[in-house]
Formats: sequence, C-alpha cells, structure tokens
Amino acid sequence: MPPHPTGRPLFQVTVVNQQLDEKGRLKHFLTIENLSRSLLIKVLDGAERFAPVGERAVKNVPLLRGKTVVNLFFEPSTRTRTTFELAAKRLSADIINLNIEASATTKGESLLDTLRTLEAMQCDMFVVRHQNSGAAAFIADQVAPHISVINAGDGRHAHPTQAMLDMFTIRRVKQRFEGLVVAIVGDIAHSRVARSEIQALNTLGVSEIRVVGPKTLIPTQIEALNTRVFHQMDAGIAGADVVIMLRLQHERMQSALLPSAQEYFQAYGLTERRLKLAAQDAIVMHPGPINRGVEIDSAVADGPQSAILHQVTHGIAVRMAIMSMVIGAQAMAGGG
Ligand code: CP
Repeated sequence: MPPHPTGRPLFQVTVVNQQLDEKGRLKHFLTIENLSRSLLIKVLDGAERFAPVGERAVKNVPLLRGKTVVNLFFEPSTRTRTTFELAAKRLSADIINLNIEASATTKGESLLDTLRTLEAMQCDMFVVRHQNSGAAAFIADQVAPHISVINAGDGRHAHPTQAMLDMFTIRRVKQRFEGLVVAIVGDIAHSRVARSEIQALNTLGVSEIRVVGPKTLIPTQIEALNTRVFHQMDAGIAGADVVIMLRLQHERMQSALLPSAQEYFQAYGLTERRLKLAAQDAIVMHPGPINRGVEIDSAVADGPQSAILHQVTHGIAVRMAIMSMVIGAQAMAGGG
C-alpha cells in the first residue's frame, strides 16, 4: 500500500460505492463519501436502538452470535479499538484483537499474507486502522466476498465511525441538524476525523460548517467542501452551536507547521472565556485523545458543556449499528 503522497490535493482517496452491494446495502464501511442521507440516518436510528443495551444488567444481544470479528490496528488506539471490541461482544460475536507488534508482521509478513492467514481462520469482519490513507479500501478489495471491512481510521483520509458517533452525539443533544452552525477547530489538514465529519455534516444538512485554524493547518481546497474558513478563533466559534476541537497530529506533520504549543493555545485553545462567544447552549466535542492546555483547557474539557465522554459511550452503540448492518448485508447475500 503506497503512502498517501504529501502535497497532493486532499480527499483523493475516493471510494465510489465499493462499500455498497448491488442492492445498495452496506457491505463495507470505509468512508462517509457517497453515502446517502437515508443511509446515515439508518445508522443513527440503529444506534438509538442499540444504546439501551449498554444500560442493561446483561449487556448483550444475540445478533452476531457465531460471527468472528478481527480488530487489525496498525496504529495505536484507545477509544476506537476498545469500543469496537465492546460493540462486537455486545452483539455476541467472537472478537480477536491482533497484536500487530507481537504478530508475524514484525517478521516481515506482508499485509496480504496476514489477511489470507486470518481469512483461513474463517473470520467474518475486519476492523482496520492503518497509517496509510486508502488501506481499508485496499483490504476490502482483497478480502474474500463474504468478509466485511470497517475502516477504523486510515491515514489522513477517513474515520467514518468516529464521524457517525459524532453525528449521533449532535443529534442526541440538538435533536436536529438543520439550522446548526458547527465549528471544527485545529489541525484540519491532518485530520481524518474532520474530513469524515465535513462529509457527514454536509449530507445531514447542517446550515454552516466552519473550519478554524492557522493557515498551515487548513487545506487549500477546503472551501469547495461547503465550509467557511476562519483563521481567527474568536470569530470562528462566535455563535456556533457545536464546537469540535481537534488534536494536533504531530505524528503526521512532516515539518514544523506551528509555533510552540503555548502559542498555539493562546491563538486557538478553547478556554471558558472563548466558549462564551459560542451559542449559550453550545456543546464542546473532541474525538480524543485530548491534549489539555494545548487545544483545550481542562475547565472546558471537564465542564458542563463538554460532550467528550458521551461521544465515547455513543461509540459503542454506533459501532454496534454499523457492524450489524454490514453483517446483515452479508446474510442477505447468502454469506451468513
Ligand atoms: N478518536 C479516536 O480515534 O481515538 P483513539 O485513537 O483512541 O481510537
């Protein structure tokens, strides 16, 4: 899998409905791009039905009993890997977490050989996080027809399940998408979350999407995606209903794009004072992991307007919904 070349225009890894079967059912979940509003609403409604499972004494349903899910995480993760594991367990699937650092990958086994090996163990679903943009789509192309692939974050390209749990969180609090002003703040350039969120917010029909950050962290073509660009934080969040803060992704930066963390916080950090500029009932979101004192002040991260931990909880129900949808398409196609 070649790395996503730097300096190329963004959003170039286009998956044209590779993720839908011939009947329009979700076979893989690789990107929000090209998914219809009705399909996104179906995911959100499915998650609403699964959310109460987590409140029960017995936190599982038998929907994926007998199915085997493999978590294939080539990059670190706390929230995504764990909530996929919990989601699979709550659906009664068997789940394997392949420890890449302790796997034969370290002995030189190729990605394709690893896939073939896992396929030979009769798996039904791969949940993939990879540092290269397009990796999940590549894997979906290579796997046997009965296997579904879910993208758990690929390079700078997409993090579609994170976007859907963020949409779920917004809908739960605001009850709607129409009329909302959503500001996404920080390292847009390296953020697969921002890319997937912008696609989802556009599809679901919010009124205004703002991207806020220094010139070095805002992709040049972003306005073509129906966004407004702000380089001043105060103006960018003024009146916003939802403020989504992003982590600085130093691991994807190829050169120093910023002054010090302190100066960044001065210019773009979300403080209690700044949050007062947003709508009075604005919510604050962050996909995590958060860097306190870099992009967000602790008083805001832990404050009454923060939805950050709700996002984590919602990740389980949203991933249950997506996993059951892709396995449902498999079953309809005779694979289950
Ligand atoms: N939001 C997110 O992807 O977090 P993790 O890296 O912990 O999975």
